[in-house]
Amino acid sequence: MNIRTDIKTVAVFGAGTMGGGIAQVFAQNGRKVLLNDAIPGAAEKAIGRIEKILRKLVDKGKLEAAHVDATLANLQPAALDDAKHADLIIEAIIEDPATKCALWNKLHQIVPQDVVFASNTSSISISELAAASGRPAQFIGMHFFNPVPLMALVEVVVGLQTAEPVVAMTIALAQALGKTPHRVKDHPGFVSNRVLMPLINEAIDCLRDGVADAETIDEVMKLGCNHPMGPLALADLIGLDVCLHIMEVLHHDLGEDRYRPSPLLRTMVRAGYLGRKSGKGFYDYD
Ligand code: CAA
Repeated sequence: MNIRTDIKTVAVFGAGTMGGGIAQVFAQNGRKVLLNDAIPGAAEKAIGRIEKILRKLVDKGKLEAAHVDATLANLQPAALDDAKHADLIIEAIIEDPATKCALWNKLHQIVPQDVVFASNTSSISISELAAASGRPAQFIGMHFFNPVPLMALVEVVVGLQTAEPVVAMTIALAQALGKTPHRVKDHPGFVSNRVLMPLINEAIDCLRDGVADAETIDEVMKLGCNHPMGPLALADLIGLDVCLHIMEVLHHDLGEDRYRPSPLLRTMVRAGYLGRKSGKGFYDYD
């Protein structure tokens, strides 16, 4: 199979928390990033956020100003059509299979055949997206973790149709970015969210059952289990809508009651309490 393995330019679709973090990591590691978002101005805003974070690190003496300038020079807002200039496409858009499939379908028409397609989806089947992409053998999951610049893992999700050279390229690329890749099979929730989300869901049920308040539940898990942050604070960081969506996928695809989303989680999402991004979740944010 002929695929590009020397990744100099990457097109990132989705300039939200994950897409912005992915763009930052590639740009800091010397790759040109073409950043696209369906919302006009969102890519520019994401680049502005990256600049702010990096300038703060310069002020703290943790980064050289020249590194920030070089990183910013690598970041460019881009139109969909610009993806034809990329050596790799990474998609981190809304977790909706139909929207993702429609994007991959458009990209397949304009992007050269030797370019690999990678999705950062946290729960949608890679094999399903691959089948709709037009190039199933060159399709893979490259699952980063939030906050992307700080988290070591990349879960490399191998679909039923993914070809081995694509897996090898993705693993080598993740390592070149300073990440630690781990290969997993395409199965609901992969490993990370199959294990993490039921834990978060259980913490939400503890809150609903009045076992303890949110602060206490989080402190128990921090002090008693050495988690860096409590499960409810983590849910706020990830986004409660994302947590609910992943629980729904686990519940639907694995078909067991133990994956039932907490009714409190559902109610909070319906109320618009989505965590940090909406200013309110289990905690309040400015
Ligand atoms: N780029 C570069 N550096 C950054 C940065 C960025 N975007 N953001 C922060 N930093 C720097 C900070 O400036 C800080 O530097 P100094 O130590 O020099 O001041 C350093 O990184 C650490 O930042 P914090 O003080 O905020 O870090 P912390 O020690 O409080 O840890 C944390 C924060 C890493 C988020 C930690 O609490 C943690 O690991 N939490 C758990 C996160 C987690 O589990 N994420 C996975 C979620 S699941 C997921 O993402 C997948 C999914 O599919 C849902």
